[in-house]
Amino acid sequence: MTTARDDTSRLIGLLLGTESDWPTAFESLVGKLGPVPHAGRQYPITTERVTIEPFDLRDPVRHDVVIDRLAWWYYHPREWLKKAALINDTYLLNNPFTFQAMEKHSAYCAMIRLGFDIPTTVLVPYKNPIDHEKWAYTAGTYNLPFDLDEVAGRVGYPMFMKPFDGGAWRGVSKIDDPDALHKAYNESGEMLMHLQAAVDNFDSFARSLTIGPRTQVMKFRPELPMHDRYEVAHDFLPPSAGAEIETLSRTINAFFRWEFNSCEALVTGTRVQPIDYANACPDISITSLHYYFPWAITQLISWSIFCAVTGRKTKIDTSSREWFDIADNPDFSWNDKLAGYAGLADEYFQTQAYEEFCATSLASLPAIVLDWVDSPAFDDLLVRTVTTTYPASEHDRFLGHFRGLMAMYVADQR
Ligand SMILES: Nc1ncnc2c1ncn2[C@@H]1O[C@H](COP(=O)(O)OP(=O)(O)OP(=O)(O)O)[C@@H](O)[C@H]1O
Ligand SMILES: [Mg+2]
Repeated sequence: MTTARDDTSRLIGLLLGTESDWPTAFESLVGKLGPVPHAGRQYPITTERVTIEPFDLRDPVRHDVVIDRLAWWYYHPREWLKKAALINDTYLLNNPFTFQAMEKHSAYCAMIRLGFDIPTTVLVPYKNPIDHEKWAYTAGTYNLPFDLDEVAGRVGYPMFMKPFDGGAWRGVSKIDDPDALHKAYNESGEMLMHLQAAVDNFDSFARSLTIGPRTQVMKFRPELPMHDRYEVAHDFLPPSAGAEIETLSRTINAFFRWEFNSCEALVTGTRVQPIDYANACPDISITSLHYYFPWAITQLISWSIFCAVTGRKTKIDTSSREWFDIADNPDFSWNDKLAGYAGLADEYFQTQAYEEFCATSLASLPAIVLDWVDSPAFDDLLVRTVTTTYPASEHDRFLGHFRGLMAMYVADQR
């Protein structure tokens, strides 16, 4: 049961898999921040790593906010999160119900409905029988034979074949011709696959990370090794494309009640084509984000403390209809629709109240983060992360690489 609280202390739970870099950063920085002032009172904030154990559905939950990084693949804590949301009013950054129900496919559908420029995407039936006693009769009776080459002809080469609920590049292949198409489909087995037109010759690959109402749009190079994928690049997009990606990212999240998610879009001129935007556990490790890591950790701390301290309630219901009303309005131009979506997103995220909270209650945080990034404690964390991530022969090279990027961050901020 939710316990009535008369004190102001707030507990933020971290539900973790294997990561230890950003959680260490999070814990250190929240410790340095001290009690957070809000509405005339002081709110001491503590953090705790959540452990996994049997739970009675009626057990109390001590955490005010839980940041989840595990439930996308480990189902016991996923079910604990659902119970916490339904019974205890625990604040969760991502709605566990919609993240389970709305995989990549649903996200494509929703954004197509809202008018975003999603490449042509077709869902083809399973290649191999699924393991179900009713399969043979049902498929024999109702699965129409279909001509894969004809479907591919409609999508056009080159294309991507990828699972409808994809993630972590599992089962993704680029298809240039009919031979590759048949080979990939034959190998897809029991995976349910999309065929999606490839966006070729784009100017930039933009990956945006959104935490609460704020989005960082970063230049991404998926063909490079992980440590080099995020390029430090400012103003790499035409302003209208940058603004559209920001609205797109916040729209997806507000639409599905996700608050910690990343989105991939390919930009050609001013044209923005989103290709992937349902990532329940976006990569925020130091060795991926480097220069952008302080931004991410600052947002994660700010948004979770805002939710804990102001008593913001998790929304487990969605409000698709108000988005569709904008999408369906024949009098609206595309820019009108984007403005409408941005307005709904701001309403959902309480953007104004959040900005005020950051400027007053969390006014000291940016300087605390900057000093910490510029301190031996951060360097220790970097050394530990590099030595556990890369083989010994690569340590010096990577340490030099990341130290250089972080020094650039510190210089830019100062
Ligand atoms: N329609 C497309 N046009 C061009 N490139 C694409 C397209 N779809 C996918 N890709 C490329 O394939 C990569 C993997 O595809 P996608 O992101 O959809 O799969 P994923 O399993 O979610 O991978 P990840 O977890 O790395 O994001 C993309 O990062 C992109 O480089
Ligand atoms: Mg992806």
